[in-house]
Amino acid sequence: MKFVICDDYEQMSDFAAGIFMQQIRKKPDIRLGLATGSSPIGLYSRLIAAYRRGEVDFSRVVTFNLDEYYPIAAENMQSYIYFMKKQLFDHVNIRPENINIPDGSASDYEAECRRYDAKIEACGGIDLQLLGCGRNGHIGFNEPGDFLHSSTHRTALHEDTIKANSRFFASSSDVPTHALTMGMGAILKAKKIVLIMNGPAKRAAFESLLDDRVSPQCPVTFLKLHRDVTVIADLAAAGR
Ligand code: GLP
Repeated sequence: MKFVICDDYEQMSDFAAGIFMQQIRKKPDIRLGLATGSSPIGLYSRLIAAYRRGEVDFSRVVTFNLDEYYPIAAENMQSYIYFMKKQLFDHVNIRPENINIPDGSASDYEAECRRYDAKIEACGGIDLQLLGCGRNGHIGFNEPGDFLHSSTHRTALHEDTIKANSRFFASSSDVPTHALTMGMGAILKAKKIVLIMNGPAKRAAFESLLDDRVSPQCPVTFLKLHRDVTVIADLAAAGR
């Protein structure tokens, strides 16, 4: 695990964007794993700016998002597909057919989860996975618990996650209680992982990466088992 400690959110976003641009240029048909939340917004805005300057081309890029609320309609402004369109997809030349995200409106969620895993597999897996991290250590929506799931599954959101994500909704009772999320299998099979962490709320999750313990009670610690993880944290998250 490699750690890059940045002064602030802007520097963290610059560094992460540099890695993404380098990897897309190296492999124009790269399969990217993407994340939502406030952490990657700066990175996405830098990718859009680079695209506008003609420095990066998304025409052959394939993306797989980590998760989606369930159930939720794609047109719902709180859905992750809506978020991704506003924050990235609508502003670059990615092909709609190359965008993948679990379907929050699927009537049969088990079939949808199987379809999603099969699609990732059929595309050859993820080359570069971007991750944020919940303040309770969740990645995607792989919440702390007695065990983790390896494949895409429907999950109940942790009380703390509902509280944390309520800032995007009118009230916490509006936050969906469930989500479809990629499991730890596809995440850990990614060739390269970039984890971005900013702000004091991520301090405990950051600290959990500093020893050699791996626990389902803090899912982000499973990244210690991967051979190519770069953690990019700001000083507020790293505390040092
Ligand atoms: C959500 C997402 C995660 C994300 C996390 C952190 O719950 N499912 O993929 O990493 O929140 O969000 P933020 O970046 O806003 O702190």
